[in-house]
Order: sequence, then structure tokens, then C-alpha cells
Amino acid sequence: MSSIDDQITEVSSAALAELALAASPDALESFRIKYLGTKGKLKDMMSLLGKAPKQDKPLLGQKLNALSTTVKAAFEARQVEVAATGAPSAAGPDVTEPGDRPPLGRRHILMQVVSELTDLFARMGFAVASGPEVEDDFHNFIALNIPQAHPARDPLDNFYLTTGIGDADAGPLRLLRTQTSTVQIRVMETQPPPIRVVIPGRVYRPDTHDDTHLSQFHQLEALVVDTHVTFVDLKSTILQFVKAYFGPNTRVRFRPSFFPFTEPSAEVDVWFEDKNRWIELGGCGMVHPNVLRACKIDPEEFSGWAFGFGIERIAMRKYGINNIRLFVENDVRFLGQF
Ligand code: DAH
Repeated sequence: MSSIDDQITEVSSAALAELALAASPDALESFRIKYLGTKGKLKDMMSLLGKAPKQDKPLLGQKLNALSTTVKAAFEARQVEVAATGAPSAAGPDVTEPGDRPPLGRRHILMQVVSELTDLFARMGFAVASGPEVEDDFHNFIALNIPQAHPARDPLDNFYLTTGIGDADAGPLRLLRTQTSTVQIRVMETQPPPIRVVIPGRVYRPDTHDDTHLSQFHQLEALVVDTHVTFVDLKSTILQFVKAYFGPNTRVRFRPSFFPFTEPSAEVDVWFEDKNRWIELGGCGMVHPNVLRACKIDPEEFSGWAFGFGIERIAMRKYGINNIRLFVENDVRFLGQF
């Protein structure tokens, strides 16, 4: 019996000594085969049990189990140690193993839509223009044929930046622009016809937030000024755009409307399949002669058309987004879909 005890001690100390020297995954694997494999030393030792006298078997069994547990536990601990030191295997690191990709950001869906729109209009011959978000009385109202007493100037409908509106001491009136139509004026002030531009930009209105309204949103404005420009050009351009962007079967309708800066004016609606109703994209019309005059363009010689559409609504129609708030909530589960 004592010789078996000796053998157990011997195997145990030999195993632990060898394990201490095993410093690579390959060495650990050799160790595993030698001691823990199906033809390994622990298996050999277990066979001693069969040969032992019956009365010795329970005690011997316990000792052999303890040996097996000790060696296995030491082996597993050593595996962890070796993995932590990153000791390369004999073959060296596996350079074909895919690395961990850091999560990448992407452009906001709305900015992707802006690019899609400006690209599409570029193909129809439109340049891109821009203007300031903080505007003055002249560009937001006067030049757009919105007189002093017009309800569009209501403080409840505008974010004014100066206090004491109408008070001469308050300094020049400033406000966050309520529409990108302001940039029509800035373009016409600085470049002579022919003009063919689109203007994507941010606008501000004190609206109550709901599924389709935010107090800050984006518009795509378009302006064409040339000789012999007609309402037919306006309508066909809008139809061409809607069918090219949303698909040839998209339903569009024009409704007569009123805007101070266009005459005649219309509103454009697109059918929203998922909501089962018409949603307004925005307004359009023939540029009012007063607006051309304010920009020193002769309405006898030139005519123009314009439109202003909500970009969020265009994006919602295109990508089946059913709530405008999703654009500003910064939820990566939403943003990551595009
Ligand atoms: N500026 C208008 C709005 O924000 C939309 C609009 C209507 C723009 C007619 C235009 C236009 O250019 O011709 O409600």
C-alpha cells in the first residue's frame, strides 16, 4: 500500500513541477495529454485501483480522486496564468484572427437625406446656397412681402432675440429664422438671374411638439428666377422630384393656398401609406413681384418660382419613420438603423 502512496506523491509532485514550467499553450497541451489524456498518467494510476485488495479500495479510491482533482485544478489555474501572460503559441500569434472593431459613428439620417436631396437637385441643375439662422426684419419679413401688421410677426409664432419689439430703443429686430425663404432674399441680393438654387437649413418656430412637429426643424427651399419661368415649370419640377425620390407611383397633390411672398401659391401633399393620410410637404408658388422688386430684380423682365418643404417629413416618408421626435432623441438604436 505504501508503495502506491509513494507513487501517488511522486506523480503529484512531478505533475505540479512540470506544470510550473509549462509556459505556453503548446506546453500545456503536451502536459494535458501526458497526465490528463485518455492514456495519461492519471488513467494509469486509476488502474491500480482494480488490482488493490478489496478492503483497501475505498481509501485508495479517495486518494486517487484527490490526486486527480489536485492535478486538474492546478492545470486549469496554470491555463489561466499562461493566457494572461499572452505567451504566444509555437506558431506565433494568429494574424488572421478578426480583431475587435470599435463601434463606428455615422452621419445622422437627416443629414444623409439632405445630401440625397441636394444630389438629386444638383442633377436637375440646382446649386446649393445657405444663409444665417439669426435673421433681421428685412430678410425674414419685409423683403418677403410680410408687412408690419401681418400676423406672421406674432411674438407667439417667432423666437425673437431682442426684447421690447417695436421699441426703438431695443435695437434692430433679430429673430431665429422661421423659414428658409429668408435665403431666397440673400441669394437674389447677391446674384443676378438666372438663379437656380436649393437651400437646406434649420428653422425655428414655437410650435407644440407632437408626432409631426418640433420647434426646431429643417426645410429645403428652392428658388428659380429667369425669363419666362412659369407655374408649369414649378409643378413639373416638384412632380419630377417626388417621383424620383419616393418612387414613380407616389401620390402627390397641389392645393391652392396663400403665402405673402408668392402669387399664386399652393401647398403640396404626399400620401403617407403607413398613416393612411395626406401629409403636407410644404408650400410653393410664383415669386411675388414685390419680392423681386425688394431684391432689385425687374418683375417685368424676370419671373420665378419657389418652394419650401419640411426635410423631416421628407425623411419620414422616405424611411417609414413615424415620429419626428426620433430625429432629436439621439437614441443609437434608431440612428444605427440608417
Ligand atoms: N416658407 C413657407 C413656410 O415655411 C413655405 C414656402 C411657401 C416656401 C411658399 C416657399 C414658397 O418658397 O414659395 O411655411
